[in-house]
Amino acid sequence: MNIDVKYQNILNEAEPYLLGNPKAFENYNLTIFGKSFKEENLKNCLEVKNSDFFGLVHRMDSLTFGHQGMGMDKWVFFDCSAMPAGIFGFGIPKEKAPEDFLQMLAVEEEYEGLIPISMYMAIPTSDRGRWFGHNLSSLNSFLGQKYQGLGLLTKAFACRVFGIHMCYGATQWGSSALEIHTQLANMQLKAAHLPAHTHPNSLCYLSDYSEENILNALSGKKRVLEDHDLLLNSKDIERQKKLHQDIERGLKVEIGGRPVHKDHEIFYPINFLEV
Ligand SMILES: CC(C)(COP(=O)(O)OP(=O)(O)OC[C@H]1O[C@@H](n2cnc3c(N)ncnc32)[C@H](O)[C@@H]1OP(=O)(O)O)[C@@H](O)C(=O)NCCC(=O)NCCS
Repeated sequence: MNIDVKYQNILNEAEPYLLGNPKAFENYNLTIFGKSFKEENLKNCLEVKNSDFFGLVHRMDSLTFGHQGMGMDKWVFFDCSAMPAGIFGFGIPKEKAPEDFLQMLAVEEEYEGLIPISMYMAIPTSDRGRWFGHNLSSLNSFLGQKYQGLGLLTKAFACRVFGIHMCYGATQWGSSALEIHTQLANMQLKAAHLPAHTHPNSLCYLSDYSEENILNALSGKKRVLEDHDLLLNSKDIERQKKLHQDIERGLKVEIGGRPVHKDHEIFYPINFLEV
């Protein structure tokens, strides 16, 4: 199966990078769909020479998550992402980045090297080798939508690099990231309402990111769900709470396709599965 041409355009312009503990890199796939890492883009987070790059990646997190009250302190980046697993993303050479973009990222004049434009972070959990994905950022919208598909491509590549198969995640009902997660795979809901999270309107899910699912996601064909048991409105908190009660009672529930946009509202196609 071929990767859709829009992703090939990104791959022609952008370069993959890994930032983390080089001991972990030995366990990862460093050639994905024919694309390999340049040696200088395998960045050891312990080395002082990589601290400026680390700072840029951290700045990207402030830009994408800061306004949502979920920006991470630098130590969280280091302790909970870079060292335990690593941060994967795409970057562009400095000369390809527009001046206003460099300013927004607060890139120092004398900095030479890769400018990060996306990232995905996940850490392995002790639940049967399942991972937990906890940050997906794309600066595509800050680059005038030049790299459409960057968010999806970043998560898809990261899963293949890290060797992630089953993966947990948490996100908010109504988040545009759900376009990406549902394009990659069905999302089995572990929680449909989550007061334990910064934002109680979060859901917690488990997805299967097999190579087949990843390739389907990148084929350019939108995943739709024809039949569903429920179309859940992103703003219907009472229905989400009710769904959560069903999950706690043992019902198996999944989001089975891309969100449906109708009259400026977002709906999720929900399936109740046989247990
Ligand atoms: C969410 C985010 C990663 C999307 O990145 P992106 O590079 O713009 O997304 P992509 O271009 O890969 O889009 C993938 C699909 O989602 C759709 N999409 C992206 N943003 C959308 C939006 N705001 N509304 C509706 N659809 C959207 C795209 O149209 C595309 O659809 P297609 O497959 O039919 O072409 C980015 O906006 C971001 O970093 N947001 C802030 C951080 C965040 O919330 N992360 C997610 C945490 S779970």
